[in-house]
Amino acid sequence: MKIFIDTADIDEIREACSWGIIDGATTNPSLIKRAVDKRGGRISMEEYIKEVLEVVPGPVSLEVIAVKANEMVEQARLLYDKFSSYGEVVIKIPINPSMGEDGLDFDGLKAIKRLREEGLPTNATLIMTPEQALLAAKAGATYASPFAGRIDDYIRDRLGMKIGVDFKKSDYFDYRLLRTISERKLEESLGRSSSISELYQSGDVKNLVDLSGDNGVLSGVDLVGKILKIYRNYGYKTQVIASSIRNARQVREVAELGVHVATLPFYVIKEMIQHYKTLEGIKRFIADVIPSYKEIFRGK
Ligand code: E4P
Repeated sequence: MKIFIDTADIDEIREACSWGIIDGATTNPSLIKRAVDKRGGRISMEEYIKEVLEVVPGPVSLEVIAVKANEMVEQARLLYDKFSSYGEVVIKIPINPSMGEDGLDFDGLKAIKRLREEGLPTNATLIMTPEQALLAAKAGATYASPFAGRIDDYIRDRLGMKIGVDFKKSDYFDYRLLRTISERKLEESLGRSSSISELYQSGDVKNLVDLSGDNGVLSGVDLVGKILKIYRNYGYKTQVIASSIRNARQVREVAELGVHVATLPFYVIKEMIQHYKTLEGIKRFIADVIPSYKEIFRGK
């Protein structure tokens, strides 16, 4: 599995690259805003992006800001022309850039198709369903980025659990536990004597089933798994980037699924190296060093 770093913060990028584990990076307008805010707004954006590209030893996703296909294609060419001599530029295109009744729902796909024809690599972003991922692959996206964490937020939100109140952004979403709870609840409802058709049409039963996922997607990790299955069924070459990753356990789960890439915030990578017993073990090893063993390392 490749690991991309999901940040535009050059200090974090440099540090993580020095650990020898980074294969690429993903940015978006919000991540760029965060990196610039951290520096009090005092940077030259072009120089900054060049620096990021020079440091990262692989693809760096840069997002367009237009929402119409023609304009996205123009912006993609501009990003590519300006920066591809400094590193491996990938153009991030929202899978559906429509913001309502503007008729732009398919402009992301149009842009991806045209950029594929021009040989520019794309990353279809903001993917929340397996269906969107299927369309991205058909249009010829190089990468597809399902937003695992945001799907987990969405499912919890619809259940009445609020981010920042009932759970922290980085908390693992235990969708198996949720599944068990809703199955038990369902059994209770089904136990009441009613006909099969009544139960099937019952609002309560439907609600229970609907709320334990998002239209059949049980979690962000499940979203990633479903997309991988569809791509493998048909041999699509589009690589899946598990995105919007919030904790180390999610990384493990998408790795178990065989995802091509996981793009990780700096704090998630830092969480991956930790375990209580490792800390305890190193303290014990260091405390147990005897003088004669220490002697070996003296006066090299
Ligand atoms: C990466 O390509 C995405 O833009 C990013 O993972 C989104 O993460 P977030 O949902 O934590 O903002």
